[in-house]
Amino acid sequence: MASLSIRNVRKVYPNGNEVLKGIDLEIEDGQFLILVGGSGCGKSTLLNMIAGLESVSEGEIMIGDRVVNNIAPKERDIAMVFQSYALYPTMTVRENISFGLGIRKVPKAEQNEIVERVANILQITHLLDRKPALLSGGQRQRVAMGRAIARDPSLFLFDEPLSNLDAKLRVEMRAEIKRMHQRLGSTIVYVTHDQIEAMTLGDRIAVMKDGVVQQFGSPQEIYDQPSNLFVAGFIGSPSMNFLRGKLTTDGAVPAFELDHNGQKTLLSLPLVNGNGNADAVSKWVGRDIVLGIRPEHVTDAMSARNSSGDQVNVGGYRPTEVNCIVELTEPTGPDTLVVARFNEAPVTCRTHPRAGALPNQPLKLAFDLTKALLFDPSSEQRIA
Ligand SMILES: Nc1ncnc2c1ncn2[C@@H]1O[C@H](COP(=O)(O)OP(=O)(O)O)[C@@H](O)[C@H]1O
Ligand SMILES: [Mg+2]
Repeated sequence: MASLSIRNVRKVYPNGNEVLKGIDLEIEDGQFLILVGGSGCGKSTLLNMIAGLESVSEGEIMIGDRVVNNIAPKERDIAMVFQSYALYPTMTVRENISFGLGIRKVPKAEQNEIVERVANILQITHLLDRKPALLSGGQRQRVAMGRAIARDPSLFLFDEPLSNLDAKLRVEMRAEIKRMHQRLGSTIVYVTHDQIEAMTLGDRIAVMKDGVVQQFGSPQEIYDQPSNLFVAGFIGSPSMNFLRGKLTTDGAVPAFELDHNGQKTLLSLPLVNGNGNADAVSKWVGRDIVLGIRPEHVTDAMSARNSSGDQVNVGGYRPTEVNCIVELTEPTGPDTLVVARFNEAPVTCRTHPRAGALPNQPLKLAFDLTKALLFDPSSEQRIA
C-alpha cells in the first residue's frame, strides 16, 4: 500500500480546455479518498492522471515516495475498477480473476490460493466456474473488484463503480467496498457524483467544482463546517436550507432578519461552537447575509420539547419556535419531511411522523440556531 500526493496539478486538454486548475490533495497509506462533484467537474480526468492514462500538464503526482508523472501505467502498481466492468466473456470467473496473475507468471498453486482468498472476501466462491454472461450486474462488478484485489496493488482507483447498479444493490456493494477496505487496509481513490456514497465511504473527501477542489476534509468536517455555499448545498440530503436576509441585532445579540414585503421576522443567533466567531459576525451587522440550516435542525416544536412539554435546553440555548405554514409533506417512515413557509421562505424540516403536519395548515417549528451557519452572499464563503 502507499500514500498519494497530488501537488498543484493542472490539466489542459489538447483542445485548450483547462479542466483541472491546480489540485492539491494528500492522503496517507491506507486512506480512502473520495473525489465527489457534479458531472464534468474533472473527477475522471484526475483519476486517469493518477492511473497514467492521461498526461499531467503541470504539477506532480506521487504514489508512495515516487513521482509517477512519467511512469507508464503498468509500472505504477495500481488497479482500476470502472463503471463498466470489462470482463473476458469466454473466461470463467476464476480465469478472469487470475488473468493478471498468469501474465505476471505467478505459480499456479499460488494463483489458486489468491483466487480462493479473494472469492471468499467478496463471497463469490460459488460463482468461480461460471462465465460472466450467467452473472447479474452486481456479481460482475464483484468479479471486476476481485480482479483488482488479486493484483494486490499499492493503490486502488475506482471510477463510479456502482453507477450502473440498481439502488438496493448499490447500497449492498457500498457496504462490500467498505468491508474490503477495512479488511485489506488498502489505499483507495474513489470517484463518485453521489454525495451519500462520498459521506459513507470516505476517510477524506475532496468536493470538486469546475476543476477546483472546493473543500478537502473528513466527512464530518465537510458536513458540519462546509467552506462555502456550494459544498453546503451539495453535501447532505435533503439539502441545507438557505435563507436570504439581513444581519441585524436583537438587543445585544446578532439576529437574522427575514423581510417579506415589509413583514419582518427576527431570529436571534446564539454564537456558539464553530459558529461562534463573534468578531467575524459583528462585521456583518447591517449587511445582507445567507443563513444556512440543515433540515434535521428544524423540527416540529413538540418533538423539540421533552416528555413534560418543556423546551429542551441545548448548551444554554432553547430552540427558537416559529409559526409556519405547511406546504408539502413527505413521509419517509422514521420521520416526515415537511416543506413549510417561514415568512414565505421555504424551509425543509424533519418532523416526527405523528407531528400531524398537513398541507396548508399552520405548524409550529423549532429552529436549533446553535447549528445555523452564515455565508457571504457575494463571495459565497462561510463567515461563521
Ligand atoms: N479528451 C478530452 N479533450 C477535451 N476535453 C475533455 C476530454 N475529456 C474530458 N474533457 C472535458 O473535461 C471536463 C471534465 O471531464 P471529466 O473528467 O470526465 O469529468 P467528470 O468525471 O467529473 O464527469 C469535461 O468538461 C469534459 O468535457
Ligand atoms: Mg467521470
